[in-house]
Amino acid sequence: MRNYFIAGNWKMHKTVSESVALAKALVAQLAGCREKLMIAPAFTALAAVSEVVKGTNILLGAQNMGPEEQGAHTGEVSVLMLKDLGVKVVILGHSERRHTYGETDELINKKVRLALQHGLEVILCVGETLDERESGRLEAVCRTQVEQGLAGVSAGDLARVTIAYEPVWAIGTGKTATPEDADAVHAYIRKVMAERYGEAAAKAMCIQYGGSVKAENAAQLMQKANIDGALVGGASLKAETFVPIAAFR
Ligand code: 13P
Repeated sequence: MRNYFIAGNWKMHKTVSESVALAKALVAQLAGCREKLMIAPAFTALAAVSEVVKGTNILLGAQNMGPEEQGAHTGEVSVLMLKDLGVKVVILGHSERRHTYGETDELINKKVRLALQHGLEVILCVGETLDERESGRLEAVCRTQVEQGLAGVSAGDLARVTIAYEPVWAIGTGKTATPEDADAVHAYIRKVMAERYGEAAAKAMCIQYGGSVKAENAAQLMQKANIDGALVGGASLKAETFVPIAAFR
């Protein structure tokens, strides 16, 4: 049976004490959960949440990182700092980074390779805007983001890479891709991965769906053959909305 990967991206929400309170609630309520679990608090709360999740079945994630190990990079947080705090997974290429902060595939790829080189797991986010979807560019956009995001990544490192398909128009909007629609894009992404890394590696790849995932649609989405987990935004901010997603089966 598949092991699903359910991850919470807390985005720019919660103070340290609020983050600790939520992490404690999740640790208590998800202790018996069989899925792979991750939460990604804001940078400011990583140290405190790290203490809460240490030794539990919840991995600590970060929402981004800088493209260099250290140096004169005002405002950036490095891979070394994340590892020092017990971070195991880093979300890279989120559409909010791409579209609000202008991150390019080239920059994202630099971060992906740096994170992998330092032993972190990576969740690489890809996905099209509504305009790209409506003008028939969905597949081309996803292909470019996957291929360029993973440029130079070896087959050996692929086991530490998850792809999150997050259609931009479904993020925070309450609009979800239908399970059929999402599954078709996941299948396409798997095909792109197979061309590059072979069928077996592509089949073993974890591809999460993200975009208005909630308890009501989680099971339908994850029943699909190509959907291996969820990257959850809004519904990850409360235990009562995140726990049922993680416990969808
Ligand atoms: P929502 O679940 O709020 O739509 O956010 C999805 C997301 O961007 C997770 O990274």
